[in-house]
Amino acid sequence: MIQNRKGGTTLRRTAALRQWLYVLFLLWLPLGLAASTASQPSVAPEPIIIAHRGASGYAPEHTLSSYRLAARMQADYIEVDVRAAKDGKLVALHDATLARTTNAETVYPRRAPWRVNDFSFAELRRLDAGSWFHPRFAGQRIPTLDEVIQMLKAERVEAPLYIETKQPGIEEAVVHLLKKHGFLQQRRVMFQSFHPESLQALRPLIPHGIRLIQLVGEKEAHSGRDELLQQIAVYADGIGLPLSAVTEEWVRAAHGRGLIVHVYTVNAPHDLERLCAMGVDGVFTDYPDRPARIAACRRLPRH
Ligand code: G3P
Ligand code: CA
Repeated sequence: MIQNRKGGTTLRRTAALRQWLYVLFLLWLPLGLAASTASQPSVAPEPIIIAHRGASGYAPEHTLSSYRLAARMQADYIEVDVRAAKDGKLVALHDATLARTTNAETVYPRRAPWRVNDFSFAELRRLDAGSWFHPRFAGQRIPTLDEVIQMLKAERVEAPLYIETKQPGIEEAVVHLLKKHGFLQQRRVMFQSFHPESLQALRPLIPHGIRLIQLVGEKEAHSGRDELLQQIAVYADGIGLPLSAVTEEWVRAAHGRGLIVHVYTVNAPHDLERLCAMGVDGVFTDYPDRPARIAACRRLPRH
């Protein structure tokens, strides 16, 4: 009997103790959760890695070698600067002249200043676009945009293209080519330009969902941010900012207007770390294999 009373008291005590523990648990829960999330670094959404002019830190920019390497390094996008030769052929080339990245001065000594659109494609094709970078790339040619796409398709590369129209007036020809290869229909392309009129010309030519990125130069980036963003938000989906100008304020202001932020050109690991942690949406880099080695840039596993 006593056993019972004593047993009863013990039961009541255990029940009371269980209740107290439960109340304590409920009280602890939010604190516990807050603590656990506070200790984890805030994971910014993963920035896309854009191979700037291909893997141009390891191979001569805008050559098939550079694009192939960028694909092998699993870049999310492969950047191609596009210009037109005198006969309208679309070629992958950054500069308006040929002197820096080809042997044009040797092959055409009397054709200074060697402007790209002063040469037909057949004349451009005679140039060596690799030796300037390193002798082992001797004989690399200036590829056409068509050849770049054909190489990516032939080598089953999934990575989409990030096309920069380097001169206004080539939009229809570029879109026609991308349509011919199905890149437009598959949304396997993003466009960028320093020329607003080029992006405005592209908009009616492309299907919904393909992004247009307005590149901002050093000078513009350091004056009148909000006014500039207001203008850009009318026709573009994002901005391309130079590394020297990007700040949390820029990123917040652009995101506030629904504009994504891509930054060029980010090669130093400490800059990559800083920008990835800052929550930029993409980085152009000559070394597309580097971000994977930086925690802040590392991908969350895709489910
Ligand atoms: O688009 C980013 C970057 O490519 C723009 O500058 O001169 O390298 O074409 P640039
Ligand atoms: Ca470019």
